[in-house]
Amino acid sequence: MNLGVIGCGKMGTALVQGAVSAGVVNPGEVIGMDLIAAARQNFTELTGARATTDVGEVLSASDVILLCTKPQDIHAALADFNSDDSCGKLLISIAAGVRLADIESKAPESMRVIRTMPNTPALVGKGAAAYCLGSRCQDGDEAVVMALLSAVGLAVCVPEKLMDAVTGLSGSGPAYVYLIIEALADGGVMAGLSRPEAIKLAAQTVSGAAEMVLRTGDHPAKLKDMVTSPGGTTIAGLSVLEGSKVRSALIDAVMAATARSAELGKS
Ligand SMILES: NC(=O)c1ccc[n+]([C@@H]2O[C@H](COP(=O)([O-])OP(=O)(O)OC[C@H]3O[C@@H](n4cnc5c(N)ncnc54)[C@H](O)[C@@H]3O)[C@@H](O)[C@H]2O)c1
Repeated sequence: MNLGVIGCGKMGTALVQGAVSAGVVNPGEVIGMDLIAAARQNFTELTGARATTDVGEVLSASDVILLCTKPQDIHAALADFNSDDSCGKLLISIAAGVRLADIESKAPESMRVIRTMPNTPALVGKGAAAYCLGSRCQDGDEAVVMALLSAVGLAVCVPEKLMDAVTGLSGSGPAYVYLIIEALADGGVMAGLSRPEAIKLAAQTVSGAAEMVLRTGDHPAKLKDMVTSPGGTTIAGLSVLEGSKVRSALIDAVMAATARSAELGKS
């Protein structure tokens, strides 16, 4: 696959690093484009791919173009797309909140468009992403986006109306989990552990429990019951969490972020 990247910042670089290490693309098949020299240099150093300032060069050399600028820069980036160079190409946007219809109306008509919502753990190969296909997509386009997103984590296909829910859950979710890790570590410090030990133990516990859910496919309630012995320590801790309404606080957090994403999408 010949892959072009418009916007070689954190996410654009991480996606290419993942695709290269998973063998989805060779660095020689990738070309990046960014307005900033430091971004181009960093992209080249980390991915082994070349980078340019010429959009036309990226479009003509690529079958698939990853659009990785900030949402507010998307329209300016698309304005430089030349219809001849773009003809028949697949454009994959990672911009939060920018709708398919908007991208399709600004991109040359011959381009097929996919919208994705990755999250920051993609930077360490543990992303959780969703994507939705545009009206002009063809057979085979879904396999391309799946291969790229799976190289940096997991990906699911959703109808576009659920992208706000994805933003509220996995898009904003890393911040909720950082807060939970910090609070767990505070508890450990209060119980006598050093701060560095407490943070490591808390983070690894969250990561390990998440891996158990993903690997076993078991419902989290089943896994929770398996580690909760009658009259033991875990049920004593769980009882406090239930009393503090942690469950409903997390549900409300996802709903509030989903609503905010919908609001921002309209503006
Ligand atoms: N970082 C995240 O948490 C995250 C999560 C999900 C989705 N996203 C989406 O990823 C996109 C990129 O985010 P990021 O954190 O990598 O941003 P970033 O600022 O690190 O990278 C964006 C890059 O785009 C370049 N750029 C701007 N205008 C350009 C143009 N016209 N042509 C070429 N390059 C241009 C900038 O110079 C910059 O290097 C955003 O749209 C964001 O919504 C980010």
